[in-house]
Amino acid sequence: MSVKVAFIGVGGIAGQHFNSVAKIAGAETVGLCDVDAKRLAQRQAEFGGETFTDPAQMLKATQPDTVYISVPPFAHGAAELACLRFRVPFMVEKPVAIDMKTAKKILSGVKRTGVMAAAAYMNRYRAGIQRVREVLAKDPAGLICGGWVDGFPGKHPWLFQKEKSGGQLLEQTTHIVDLLRYLCGEAESVSCYGADSKFVRGARNFTADCASTAAIKMQNGAIANITSAWLSKAGGMGVYLTLLSRDHKIEISGWNNDVRITHAGGKHIEEIKGEDNIFEIEDAAWIKAVRTGKPTGVLSDYADAVKSLAISLAADESMATGKPVKAKAY
Ligand SMILES: NC(=O)c1ccc[n+]([C@@H]2O[C@H](COP(=O)([O-])OP(=O)(O)OC[C@H]3O[C@@H](n4cnc5c(N)ncnc54)[C@H](O)[C@@H]3O)[C@@H](O)[C@H]2O)c1
Repeated sequence: MSVKVAFIGVGGIAGQHFNSVAKIAGAETVGLCDVDAKRLAQRQAEFGGETFTDPAQMLKATQPDTVYISVPPFAHGAAELACLRFRVPFMVEKPVAIDMKTAKKILSGVKRTGVMAAAAYMNRYRAGIQRVREVLAKDPAGLICGGWVDGFPGKHPWLFQKEKSGGQLLEQTTHIVDLLRYLCGEAESVSCYGADSKFVRGARNFTADCASTAAIKMQNGAIANITSAWLSKAGGMGVYLTLLSRDHKIEISGWNNDVRITHAGGKHIEEIKGEDNIFEIEDAAWIKAVRTGKPTGVLSDYADAVKSLAISLAADESMATGKPVKAKAY
């Protein structure tokens, strides 16, 4: 069966999904929607399809079988609601929104209509992450330390403005938050501190937290710490998640989520390299779900992704109030 695919938001990350779709037999790009005419023209030249600036007009005219939504955090809402109105399954880039009001409105539409909706937490599809999940199911982690610690903030137009991106914990470190939930279960409460912005003096249009660290109490009694930073001109500490359980030390590192599992005693070590083509793997699973109407192979659905957003928002509230926040408050 052929699958007609449309895109809302055709910037950086959408490029990965365009490329994946181009490699799937029978899948075809039919529509592109963005507020940036230049980008639309560039993507159309690369991948074809009709261009639009209004999501509803695109859905009406091109009648896609599915839509990829890859807009910045502040721009969620109209795209998803249009997909729900036209009953078109959608895959939305993480984070799914910048606030709970938007996410809940979309989620209630997803539940009401039964339209299939997924979130692009692609690391869940990695063989290494699946292996870690298997290990932790039998031997749960008691201490988890993770982070997304970048260098000094640069010129990205919306990323470093908290009101547009939601800040680094919500925008980038959300991958680590999502893995924490995927591997260790749900959080009970979050306490978070943000560093004073004096440390990034001179960064242009910078309104986010230059560093934050969240202490998370998990429902199963484990504790986690998740650190984020855009701070130093000398560099950062990269992407990492280390989990300690009674019989295992698990190190997940780098953007590709390379996995190293050290078994008790230290002699048996498993190493699983992260896949370079993870977007193709994720997108193949999604297009299969669209084709069959069965979401069995989809590892991150919309409702689940809203729970990852909730942790970041609880951390934000804790940063603002100086108090621990119950995760379920969101
Ligand atoms: N899965 C990943 O690892 C990964 C990697 C990078 C980015 N992302 C996520 O993807 C999202 C987009 O990031 P990006 O790097 O592609 O940003 P980008 O700025 O390169 O592209 C965003 C695009 O959305 C368009 N846009 C903005 N508002 C719109 C609206 N209301 N309707 C239609 N189009 C609109 C912009 O014009 C732009 O072309 C972010 O949430 C980001 O976190 C995910």
